[in-house]
Amino acid sequence: MPGKVLSVASEVVPFIKTGGLADVAGALPSALADHGWDMRTLMPGYRGLQKGPNASKVLWSVDDLFGGPASVRSCTQGGAAVLMLDAPHLFDRDGGPYGDPKDFKDNAIRFAALSWAAADIAQNGLQDGWTPAVLHAHDWQAGLAPAYLQFAGSSVKSVTTVHNIAFQGNASAALLGALKLPISAFTPDCLEYWGHLSTLKAGLVTADAVTTVSPTYAAELMRPEFGMGLDGVIASRSADLHGILNGIDLDLWNPATDPEIKPFRIGDMKGKGLNRTALLAEFGLSDISGPLAVIVSRLTTQKGIDLLSQAIPDFVASGGGLAVLGSGDPDLEEQLKVLAKAHPGKVGLRIGYDDSLSHRMFAGGDAVLVPSRFEPCGLTQMYGLRYGAIPVVAATGGLADTVIDANPMALADGVATGIQFHPVDAMSFGRALRQLSTLFAQRPVWRRMQKRGMTQHLGWATSSAKYAALYESLIA
Ligand code: ADP
Ligand code: GLC
Repeated sequence: MPGKVLSVASEVVPFIKTGGLADVAGALPSALADHGWDMRTLMPGYRGLQKGPNASKVLWSVDDLFGGPASVRSCTQGGAAVLMLDAPHLFDRDGGPYGDPKDFKDNAIRFAALSWAAADIAQNGLQDGWTPAVLHAHDWQAGLAPAYLQFAGSSVKSVTTVHNIAFQGNASAALLGALKLPISAFTPDCLEYWGHLSTLKAGLVTADAVTTVSPTYAAELMRPEFGMGLDGVIASRSADLHGILNGIDLDLWNPATDPEIKPFRIGDMKGKGLNRTALLAEFGLSDISGPLAVIVSRLTTQKGIDLLSQAIPDFVASGGGLAVLGSGDPDLEEQLKVLAKAHPGKVGLRIGYDDSLSHRMFAGGDAVLVPSRFEPCGLTQMYGLRYGAIPVVAATGGLADTVIDANPMALADGVATGIQFHPVDAMSFGRALRQLSTLFAQRPVWRRMQKRGMTQHLGWATSSAKYAALYESLIA
């Protein structure tokens, strides 16, 4: 009994992206369409996005959305459509979605406005008659949307998805009124969080169902070492908690058709070698007799980037090479610059964000490294699998759920697709890198792993069916 669902996210591919949330929010509508669900996605009309040439007529408007007029139109780009919330006083400014380098001071208001607009659309529909049965809120930016629905006594069902519990949308309790939240909701079992209010917690306690982006992360979230203070809240929702693994967009990430690379496929891997040669040249690397590893990542301690300075010198001494693309924490950027300088021709670094280069890296790399301390799902290990770059990952969250470790049994059975390590420290990461070099030297074993990875089911087929079943159970 499919129906309509309003997805609410702060970033959506191909319109704007800072991380995996955008990939997922961008992929869900077509994945859900396969199950008969009509999903539209509401996102902020950031500077440069809101006045697209393909905008529809106004579908929703108010004179005063938290301090200024706002309207929603449908906008299309590259075959994808979103509902764009045009509210110049909140979103028409330089500095990316959240403020770069410093977060915007009014982020609580900006994303409360997004959530409020979503809840209003969910209750009253759009001017073209489209009215959703389910509101699906992603992360803290949309966390208040299920709360506004509940406080309004709405019957529209809601889902909150946690993409990363580290970002909790904490704001001053003094903003309660400005955010149109009832004082009565400021209690520990609702919005209150250590004297502040947390928009993510609001979404967790008020949504009809809570999901996160892998089964392992769902279990981890209920433990203090991963729950970041919200483990108890998550545990209290365990009956309504679902770990649904992210997929990847198999059209955007297809080595046989990717316009950014020399194409290749199982059975014709020549292009992979050409991409490797080109990547070495692009990063100024030479004399790499071992595996060429790549990293495409936010540079943060979550991602274990600080472990590289300790683990990489031995790896490159034994013939390996490393190419890193990322940006983030200035200290970690500095550490990587020092590492690259100490290993010229072996470690290459690009600070910045470059989608096209990221495709060339997965295509040219022999391995992709993801040494995260925690990883709700992670997408780059899946891009690696699809592009024949063997993932070396910390055994946590979605990394544990998507990579089959090359232990002796898995190798003997021919099911291994990568290497997992635990605990997340430089010593076990170093051990994993030694294993990577050993496997790389065993060509038939390596080829078999590569092939196995490239044939993994990484798309949305299974997971979108789970979201569809969840929506159906909510409206049943
Ligand atoms: P997270 O969302 O925590 O950053 P994910 O692995 O889920 O981690 O998603 C990160 C996404 O952002 C992937 O699509 C990855 O390829 C992309 N990405 C990260 N850093 C960069 C960068 N510097 N340039 C291009 N793409 C990047
Ligand atoms: C978050 C997580 C990442 C996940 C992504 C998409 O950014 O850090 O692990 O893949 O969301 O769900």
